[in-house]
Amino acid sequence: MPKASPLDYRFIRACRGEETDATPIWIMRQAGRYLPEYRAIREKVSFLELCKTPELAAEVTMQPLNILGVDAAILFSDILIPVEAMGLSVEFNPGPVLESTVQTQADVDRLGVPDPVADLPFVMETIKILRRELDGRVPIIGFSGAPFTLASYMIEGGGSKDFRKMKTLIFQQPGVWHSLMEKVTDTVIVYLKTQIEAGVLAVQLFDSWGGWRAPRDYAEYALPYSKRVIEAVKTPDIQVIHFLQGNPAALPLVASAGSDVVGVDWRIDIDKARELVHDDQSVQGNLDPTSLFLPIEGIEGRVREIIEKAGPTGHIFNLGHGILPPTPVEHAQALVECVHRISAQINQSG
Ligand code: CP3
Repeated sequence: MPKASPLDYRFIRACRGEETDATPIWIMRQAGRYLPEYRAIREKVSFLELCKTPELAAEVTMQPLNILGVDAAILFSDILIPVEAMGLSVEFNPGPVLESTVQTQADVDRLGVPDPVADLPFVMETIKILRRELDGRVPIIGFSGAPFTLASYMIEGGGSKDFRKMKTLIFQQPGVWHSLMEKVTDTVIVYLKTQIEAGVLAVQLFDSWGGWRAPRDYAEYALPYSKRVIEAVKTPDIQVIHFLQGNPAALPLVASAGSDVVGVDWRIDIDKARELVHDDQSVQGNLDPTSLFLPIEGIEGRVREIIEKAGPTGHIFNLGHGILPPTPVEHAQALVECVHRISAQINQSG
Protein backbone atom coordinates (compact mmCIF):
# COMPACT_ATOMS: atom_id res chain seq x y z
CA MET A 1 0.00 0.00 0.00
CA PRO A 2 1.44 3.43 -0.92
CA LYS A 3 2.02 5.65 2.08
CA ALA A 4 0.64 9.16 2.26
CA SER A 5 3.37 10.53 4.50
CA PRO A 6 6.87 9.38 5.50
CA LEU A 7 5.52 9.09 9.03
CA ASP A 8 3.34 6.18 7.93
CA TYR A 9 6.44 4.02 7.54
CA ARG A 10 7.45 1.87 10.51
CA PHE A 11 11.08 2.38 9.62
CA ILE A 12 10.86 6.19 9.59
CA ARG A 13 8.81 6.26 12.79
CA ALA A 14 11.37 4.07 14.58
CA CYS A 15 14.21 6.33 13.37
CA ARG A 16 12.33 9.22 14.98
CA GLY A 17 11.66 7.32 18.22
CA GLU A 18 7.90 7.18 17.60
CA GLU A 19 5.58 4.27 18.39
CA THR A 20 5.20 1.52 15.81
CA ASP A 21 2.90 -1.51 15.42
CA ALA A 22 6.02 -3.71 15.19
CA THR A 23 9.79 -3.23 15.16
CA PRO A 24 11.01 -2.53 11.62
CA ILE A 25 13.83 -4.59 10.16
CA TRP A 26 16.20 -4.33 7.23
CA ILE A 27 19.44 -6.27 6.80
CA MET A 28 22.84 -4.91 5.83
CA ARG A 29 23.79 -6.51 2.45
CA GLN A 30 20.20 -7.69 2.11
CA ALA A 31 20.63 -7.82 -1.67
CA GLY A 32 23.52 -10.21 -2.05
CA ARG A 33 25.02 -13.56 -2.77
CA TYR A 34 22.94 -15.56 -0.24
CA LEU A 35 19.95 -15.04 -2.60
CA PRO A 36 19.75 -17.42 -5.62
CA GLU A 37 17.90 -14.66 -7.50
CA TYR A 38 20.89 -12.32 -6.97
CA ARG A 39 23.38 -15.00 -8.04
CA ALA A 40 21.36 -15.61 -11.21
CA ILE A 41 21.82 -11.97 -12.24
CA ARG A 42 25.51 -12.03 -11.25
CA GLU A 43 26.09 -14.98 -13.58
CA LYS A 44 25.36 -12.61 -16.45
CA VAL A 45 27.06 -9.38 -15.30
CA SER A 46 30.01 -8.39 -13.12
CA PHE A 47 29.40 -6.68 -9.78
CA LEU A 48 30.49 -3.28 -11.16
CA GLU A 49 28.26 -3.60 -14.23
CA LEU A 50 25.40 -4.48 -11.89
CA CYS A 51 26.01 -1.33 -9.82
CA LYS A 52 26.17 0.78 -13.01
CA THR A 53 23.08 -0.61 -14.77
CA PRO A 54 20.10 1.14 -13.15
CA GLU A 55 17.41 -1.37 -14.24
CA LEU A 56 19.42 -4.28 -12.81
CA ALA A 57 20.53 -2.41 -9.68
CA ALA A 58 16.88 -1.52 -9.01
CA GLU A 59 15.83 -5.13 -9.60
CA VAL A 60 18.29 -6.54 -7.05
CA THR A 61 17.43 -3.77 -4.58
CA MET A 62 13.84 -5.00 -4.68
CA GLN A 63 14.62 -8.73 -4.34
CA PRO A 64 14.80 -8.80 -0.52
CA LEU A 65 11.54 -6.84 -0.25
CA ASN A 66 9.67 -9.54 -2.08
CA ILE A 67 11.62 -12.51 -0.70
CA LEU A 68 12.05 -11.45 2.95
CA GLY A 69 9.48 -8.71 3.56
CA VAL A 70 11.92 -6.18 5.04
CA ASP A 71 10.72 -2.67 5.94
CA ALA A 72 13.16 -0.63 3.83
CA ALA A 73 15.02 -0.86 0.54
CA ILE A 74 18.72 0.03 0.52
CA LEU A 75 20.09 1.33 -2.76
CA PHE A 76 22.21 -1.32 -4.46
CA SER A 77 25.70 0.07 -4.98
CA ASP A 78 29.01 -0.01 -3.13
CA ILE A 79 30.87 2.40 -0.88
CA LEU A 80 33.80 2.39 -3.34
CA ILE A 81 31.77 3.73 -6.29
CA PRO A 82 32.46 7.43 -5.49
CA VAL A 83 36.15 6.61 -4.88
CA GLU A 84 36.35 5.50 -8.49
CA ALA A 85 34.75 8.80 -9.51
CA MET A 86 37.43 10.66 -7.50
CA GLY A 87 40.04 9.12 -9.79
CA LEU A 88 41.15 5.77 -8.33
CA SER A 89 39.90 2.84 -10.36
CA VAL A 90 38.46 -0.08 -8.43
CA GLU A 91 37.95 -3.76 -9.18
CA PHE A 92 36.01 -6.29 -7.10
CA ASN A 93 37.42 -9.74 -6.47
CA PRO A 94 35.03 -10.14 -4.53
CA GLY A 95 36.25 -7.39 -2.15
CA PRO A 96 37.51 -4.10 -3.60
CA VAL A 97 41.04 -3.75 -5.00
CA LEU A 98 42.29 -0.27 -6.00
CA GLU A 99 44.60 0.07 -8.97
CA SER A 100 46.62 2.83 -7.29
CA THR A 101 46.68 4.23 -3.76
CA VAL A 102 47.22 7.53 -1.96
CA GLN A 103 50.60 7.88 -0.20
CA THR A 104 51.67 11.52 -0.74
CA GLN A 105 50.27 15.04 -0.99
CA ALA A 106 50.71 14.87 -4.78
CA ASP A 107 48.41 11.81 -4.80
CA VAL A 108 45.78 13.77 -2.85
CA ASP A 109 46.14 16.76 -5.21
CA ARG A 110 45.40 14.55 -8.23
CA LEU A 111 42.03 13.47 -6.80
CA GLY A 112 38.86 15.27 -7.86
CA VAL A 113 35.61 15.93 -6.02
CA PRO A 114 33.07 14.37 -8.40
CA ASP A 115 29.79 15.92 -9.51
CA PRO A 116 27.44 12.98 -8.80
CA VAL A 117 24.88 14.09 -11.39
CA ALA A 118 27.46 14.05 -14.18
CA ASP A 119 29.86 11.39 -12.89
CA LEU A 120 27.52 8.93 -11.13
CA PRO A 121 24.27 9.31 -13.10
CA PHE A 122 23.47 5.59 -12.73
CA VAL A 123 23.05 6.01 -8.94
CA MET A 124 20.42 8.71 -9.31
CA GLU A 125 18.71 6.82 -12.14
CA THR A 126 18.52 3.69 -9.92
CA ILE A 127 16.83 5.75 -7.18
CA LYS A 128 14.35 7.16 -9.72
CA ILE A 129 13.46 3.69 -11.01
CA LEU A 130 13.08 2.46 -7.43
CA ARG A 131 10.72 5.27 -6.54
CA ARG A 132 8.55 4.40 -9.52
CA GLU A 133 8.61 0.62 -8.94
CA LEU A 134 8.17 0.79 -5.16
CA ASP A 135 5.28 3.20 -5.50
CA GLY A 136 5.47 4.08 -1.81
CA ARG A 137 5.64 0.51 -0.44
CA VAL A 138 8.76 1.10 1.66
CA PRO A 139 11.23 3.96 2.05
CA ILE A 140 14.58 3.93 0.25
CA ILE A 141 17.82 4.19 2.23
CA GLY A 142 20.78 5.82 0.47
CA PHE A 143 24.32 5.46 1.77
CA SER A 144 27.95 6.38 1.65
CA GLY A 145 31.11 5.13 3.26
CA ALA A 146 32.17 7.44 6.10
CA PRO A 147 35.19 9.62 5.21
CA PHE A 148 37.50 7.59 7.48
CA THR A 149 36.67 4.23 5.90
CA LEU A 150 36.87 5.62 2.35
CA ALA A 151 40.21 7.36 2.98
CA SER A 152 41.52 4.16 4.58
CA TYR A 153 40.63 2.14 1.48
CA MET A 154 42.37 4.75 -0.66
CA ILE A 155 45.58 4.35 1.37
CA GLU A 156 45.51 0.57 1.88
CA GLY A 157 44.32 -0.20 -1.66
CA GLY A 158 41.92 -2.89 -0.42
CA GLY A 159 41.14 -4.88 2.71
CA SER A 160 43.81 -5.23 5.39
CA LYS A 161 44.60 -7.37 8.44
CA ASP A 162 46.16 -4.58 10.49
CA PHE A 163 45.60 -1.27 8.60
CA ARG A 164 49.28 -0.50 9.01
CA LYS A 165 49.63 1.79 5.96
CA MET A 166 46.68 3.92 7.01
CA LYS A 167 47.81 4.11 10.64
CA THR A 168 51.40 5.03 9.81
CA LEU A 169 50.37 7.62 7.20
CA ILE A 170 48.19 9.34 9.80
CA PHE A 171 51.07 9.55 12.29
CA GLN A 172 53.89 10.30 9.86
CA GLN A 173 52.09 12.64 7.47
CA PRO A 174 49.10 14.10 9.38
CA GLY A 175 48.85 16.98 6.91
CA VAL A 176 48.37 14.57 4.01
CA TRP A 177 45.73 12.68 6.01
CA HIS A 178 43.76 15.83 6.81
CA SER A 179 43.85 17.13 3.25
CA LEU A 180 42.70 13.72 1.96
CA MET A 181 39.88 13.72 4.53
CA GLU A 182 38.79 17.22 3.45
CA LYS A 183 38.42 16.07 -0.16
CA VAL A 184 36.69 12.82 0.76
CA THR A 185 34.32 14.65 3.12
CA ASP A 186 33.35 17.14 0.39
CA THR A 187 32.69 14.18 -1.92
CA VAL A 188 30.55 12.33 0.64
CA ILE A 189 28.46 15.44 1.34
CA VAL A 190 27.59 16.15 -2.30
CA TYR A 191 27.06 12.46 -2.99
CA LEU A 192 24.55 12.08 -0.14
CA LYS A 193 22.80 15.36 -0.94
CA THR A 194 22.29 14.23 -4.53
CA GLN A 195 20.81 10.90 -3.35
CA ILE A 196 18.47 12.84 -1.07
CA GLU A 197 17.38 15.07 -3.97
CA ALA A 198 16.70 11.92 -6.00
CA GLY A 199 14.30 10.72 -3.29
CA VAL A 200 15.87 8.64 -0.51
CA LEU A 201 14.30 9.27 2.92
CA ALA A 202 17.25 8.07 4.99
CA VAL A 203 21.00 7.74 4.57
CA GLN A 204 23.44 5.45 6.32
CA LEU A 205 27.09 6.36 6.83
CA PHE A 206 29.13 3.14 6.96
CA ASP A 207 32.27 3.55 9.06
CA SER A 208 33.26 -0.09 8.66
CA TRP A 209 36.89 0.51 9.64
CA GLY A 210 36.45 3.29 12.21
CA GLY A 211 36.54 0.73 15.01
CA TRP A 212 40.18 -0.05 14.23
CA ARG A 213 41.30 3.15 15.92
CA ALA A 214 41.73 3.75 19.62
CA PRO A 215 38.81 5.97 20.67
CA ARG A 216 41.10 9.02 21.16
CA ASP A 217 42.49 8.64 17.62
CA TYR A 218 39.02 8.05 16.19
CA ALA A 219 38.02 11.31 17.92
CA GLU A 220 40.94 13.22 16.44
CA TYR A 221 41.28 11.78 12.94
CA ALA A 222 37.80 10.56 11.93
CA LEU A 223 34.96 11.96 14.03
CA PRO A 224 35.16 15.66 13.00
CA TYR A 225 34.71 14.67 9.36
CA SER A 226 31.73 12.36 9.97
CA LYS A 227 30.23 15.11 12.08
CA ARG A 228 30.64 17.58 9.23
CA VAL A 229 28.82 15.17 6.87
CA ILE A 230 25.95 14.64 9.32
CA GLU A 231 25.54 18.38 9.94
CA ALA A 232 25.50 19.04 6.19
CA VAL A 233 22.83 16.47 5.27
CA LYS A 234 20.60 16.41 8.33
CA THR A 235 17.13 17.96 7.98
CA PRO A 236 13.90 17.14 9.85
CA ASP A 237 12.72 15.07 6.85
CA ILE A 238 15.87 12.96 6.39
CA GLN A 239 16.91 10.25 8.83
CA VAL A 240 20.66 9.82 9.26
CA ILE A 241 22.03 6.48 10.49
CA HIS A 242 25.66 6.38 11.61
CA PHE A 243 27.19 2.90 11.84
CA LEU A 244 30.65 2.19 13.20
CA GLN A 245 31.87 -1.37 12.99
CA GLY A 246 34.32 -3.01 15.36
CA ASN A 247 34.57 -1.03 18.58
CA PRO A 248 31.57 -0.37 20.85
CA ALA A 249 33.85 1.61 23.20
CA ALA A 250 33.67 4.36 20.58
CA LEU A 251 29.83 4.52 20.70
CA PRO A 252 29.67 7.71 22.83
CA LEU A 253 31.87 9.42 20.21
CA VAL A 254 29.75 8.08 17.35
CA ALA A 255 26.65 9.38 19.14
CA SER A 256 28.25 12.81 19.55
CA ALA A 257 28.37 13.23 15.76
CA GLY A 258 24.61 13.86 15.99
CA SER A 259 22.85 11.26 13.80
CA ASP A 260 19.20 10.33 14.33
CA VAL A 261 20.11 6.64 14.63
CA VAL A 262 23.28 4.94 15.84
CA GLY A 263 24.07 1.59 14.21
CA VAL A 264 25.39 -0.99 16.67
CA ASP A 265 27.51 -4.04 15.83
CA TRP A 266 27.12 -7.33 17.74
CA ARG A 267 30.00 -6.82 20.15
CA ILE A 268 27.82 -5.16 22.82
CA ASP A 269 24.35 -5.83 24.25
CA ILE A 270 21.85 -3.42 22.75
CA ASP A 271 20.61 -2.17 26.16
CA LYS A 272 24.21 -1.24 27.05
CA ALA A 273 24.59 0.46 23.65
CA ARG A 274 21.48 2.51 24.35
CA GLU A 275 23.05 3.81 27.56
CA LEU A 276 26.01 5.09 25.50
CA VAL A 277 24.00 7.10 22.95
CA HIS A 278 21.85 10.18 23.46
CA ASP A 279 18.29 9.81 24.83
CA ASP A 280 16.78 11.15 21.62
CA GLN A 281 18.78 8.81 19.36
CA SER A 282 17.39 5.50 18.11
CA VAL A 283 19.53 2.39 17.86
CA GLN A 284 19.86 -0.06 14.97
CA GLY A 285 21.08 -3.63 15.25
CA ASN A 286 22.51 -5.95 16.38
CA LEU A 287 22.22 -9.70 15.81
CA ASP A 288 25.55 -11.38 15.03
CA PRO A 289 25.27 -12.40 11.33
CA THR A 290 26.53 -15.90 12.15
CA SER A 291 23.48 -16.36 14.46
CA LEU A 292 21.56 -17.03 11.25
CA PHE A 293 23.29 -20.43 11.13
CA LEU A 294 21.45 -21.43 14.34
CA PRO A 295 18.33 -23.57 13.95
CA ILE A 296 15.24 -21.34 13.54
CA GLU A 297 14.19 -21.78 17.22
CA GLY A 298 17.64 -20.52 18.21
CA ILE A 299 17.28 -17.46 15.97
CA GLU A 300 13.89 -16.77 17.51
CA GLY A 301 15.40 -16.85 21.02
CA ARG A 302 18.10 -14.33 20.06
CA VAL A 303 15.55 -12.07 18.42
CA ARG A 304 13.39 -12.07 21.54
CA GLU A 305 16.38 -11.16 23.72
CA ILE A 306 17.34 -8.23 21.49
CA ILE A 307 13.79 -6.90 21.21
CA GLU A 308 13.30 -7.09 24.98
CA LYS A 309 16.62 -5.39 25.65
CA ALA A 310 16.10 -2.67 23.03
CA GLY A 311 12.66 -1.68 24.30
CA PRO A 312 9.48 -0.88 22.36
CA THR A 313 10.45 2.38 20.62
CA GLY A 314 13.48 3.81 18.85
CA HIS A 315 14.81 0.47 17.62
CA ILE A 316 15.40 -0.69 14.06
CA PHE A 317 16.28 -4.36 13.93
CA ASN A 318 19.30 -5.29 11.80
CA LEU A 319 22.31 -7.58 11.89
CA GLY A 320 25.46 -6.30 13.56
CA HIS A 321 27.18 -6.40 10.13
CA GLY A 322 26.39 -7.69 6.63
CA ILE A 323 24.56 -10.95 6.02
CA LEU A 324 27.00 -13.72 5.03
CA PRO A 325 26.83 -15.39 1.60
CA PRO A 326 26.20 -18.98 2.89
CA THR A 327 23.19 -17.91 5.02
CA PRO A 328 20.12 -20.11 4.32
CA VAL A 329 17.39 -17.92 2.79
CA GLU A 330 14.71 -19.61 4.97
CA HIS A 331 16.61 -18.45 8.05
CA ALA A 332 16.68 -14.83 6.83
CA GLN A 333 12.94 -15.12 6.11
CA ALA A 334 12.34 -16.55 9.60
CA LEU A 335 14.31 -13.67 11.10
CA VAL A 336 12.09 -11.02 9.48
CA GLU A 337 8.91 -12.90 10.36
CA CYS A 338 9.87 -13.36 14.02
CA VAL A 339 11.06 -9.75 14.49
CA HIS A 340 7.63 -8.56 13.34
CA ARG A 341 5.63 -11.18 15.28
CA ILE A 342 7.55 -11.03 18.57
CA SER A 343 7.77 -7.23 18.67
CA ALA A 344 4.04 -6.88 17.90
CA GLN A 345 3.23 -9.33 20.74
CA ILE A 346 5.50 -7.57 23.22
CA ASN A 347 4.20 -4.11 22.23
CA GLN A 348 0.58 -5.20 22.60
CA SER A 349 1.08 -6.82 25.99
CA GLY A 350 3.24 -3.91 27.26
O1 CP3 B 1 23.36 -3.52 1.94
C1 CP3 B 1 22.98 -3.68 0.75
O2 CP3 B 1 22.30 -4.65 0.36
C2 CP3 B 1 23.28 -2.58 -0.26
C3 CP3 B 1 24.44 -2.77 -1.09
C4 CP3 B 1 25.82 -2.68 -0.48
C5 CP3 B 1 26.92 -3.45 -0.95
N1 CP3 B 1 28.05 -3.03 -0.33
C6 CP3 B 1 26.82 -4.49 -1.99
C7 CP3 B 1 27.94 -5.43 -2.19
C8 CP3 B 1 26.32 -1.82 0.51
C9 CP3 B 1 25.58 -0.83 1.38
C10 CP3 B 1 27.73 -2.06 0.58
C11 CP3 B 1 28.61 -1.30 1.49
C12 CP3 B 1 30.01 -1.70 1.62
N2 CP3 B 1 30.87 -2.12 0.65
C13 CP3 B 1 30.74 -1.61 2.83
C14 CP3 B 1 30.20 -1.10 4.13
C15 CP3 B 1 29.51 -2.16 4.87
C16 CP3 B 1 30.40 -3.19 5.50
O3 CP3 B 1 30.33 -4.35 5.04
O4 CP3 B 1 31.16 -2.86 6.41
C17 CP3 B 1 32.06 -2.04 2.57
C18 CP3 B 1 33.20 -2.13 3.57
C19 CP3 B 1 32.13 -2.35 1.19
C20 CP3 B 1 33.31 -2.81 0.42
C21 CP3 B 1 33.08 -4.15 -0.16
N3 CP3 B 1 32.30 -4.37 -1.27
C22 CP3 B 1 33.58 -5.40 0.28
C23 CP3 B 1 34.50 -5.60 1.47
C24 CP3 B 1 33.06 -6.38 -0.60
C25 CP3 B 1 33.31 -7.87 -0.57
C26 CP3 B 1 32.39 -8.41 0.45
C27 CP3 B 1 32.12 -9.87 0.31
O5 CP3 B 1 30.99 -10.19 0.70
O6 CP3 B 1 32.95 -10.63 -0.17
C28 CP3 B 1 32.25 -5.72 -1.54
C29 CP3 B 1 31.49 -6.34 -2.65
C30 CP3 B 1 30.00 -6.28 -2.51
N4 CP3 B 1 29.29 -5.15 -2.16
C31 CP3 B 1 29.07 -7.34 -2.77
C32 CP3 B 1 27.79 -6.80 -2.59
C33 CP3 B 1 26.48 -7.50 -2.80
C34 CP3 B 1 29.43 -8.75 -3.27
C35 CP3 B 1 29.74 -8.61 -4.72
C36 CP3 B 1 29.45 -9.80 -5.57
O7 CP3 B 1 28.30 -9.95 -6.03
O8 CP3 B 1 30.40 -10.56 -5.83
